[in-house]
Amino acid sequence: MRRAVISDVPFIMALEKGAIDHPWQEQDIIALVEDANKICLVETDANGEITGYIGCDWVLDEASIGNIVVSPEHRRQGIGAGLISRLLSMLKDRGITVIFLEVRFDNEAAIALYTGLGFEVYNRRRDYYGEGIDALLMKKLI
Ligand SMILES: CC(C)(COP(=O)(O)OP(=O)(O)OC[C@H]1O[C@@H](n2cnc3c(N)ncnc32)[C@H](O)[C@@H]1OP(=O)(O)O)[C@@H](O)C(=O)NCCC(=O)NCCS
Repeated sequence: MRRAVISDVPFIMALEKGAIDHPWQEQDIIALVEDANKICLVETDANGEITGYIGCDWVLDEASIGNIVVSPEHRRQGIGAGLISRLLSMLKDRGITVIFLEVRFDNEAAIALYTGLGFEVYNRRRDYYGEGIDALLMKKLI
């Protein structure tokens, strides 16, 4: 696992497009890699190919996970949990005390992942992702 670099952006974009209804734009991913208040981590396989990524940003002592994707053929191998755990320790080292995220109410895999790592639902935002598609707002103290 390592910090993403600019040459990773096309591969991160490919992961996004394969997994997310409204994928981030290239400039958003570039900002994740380059900006001082953002962290983008990637996991790679034995050939150096990117199998997953996570992006987050922070303001003062509050961070939020913008996205996390693991390639379909590498899921349920602990990559998602590993990315979040590493991110949390990096954030803690920077003095961050709380981390937030939003997740579709019906995204069972992601909700199970977050809950297992100690995130708790603190609110529900109606129709956040479209009519009838609510977001659960989750947070964890770190
Ligand atoms: C959510 C996602 C990142 C999980 O990544 P992952 O690498 O497969 O997760 P892990 O292998 O680290 O799973 C850790 C734990 O989370 C839970 N979990 C993960 N996927 C699950 C699933 N499909 N069903 C139920 N529980 C699941 C399990 O408790 C799992 O532990 P276990 O395998 O020992 O039972 C992955 O499914 C993904 O990329 N989904 C599409 C993108 C997405 O929805 N991102 C979240 C946007 S908010």
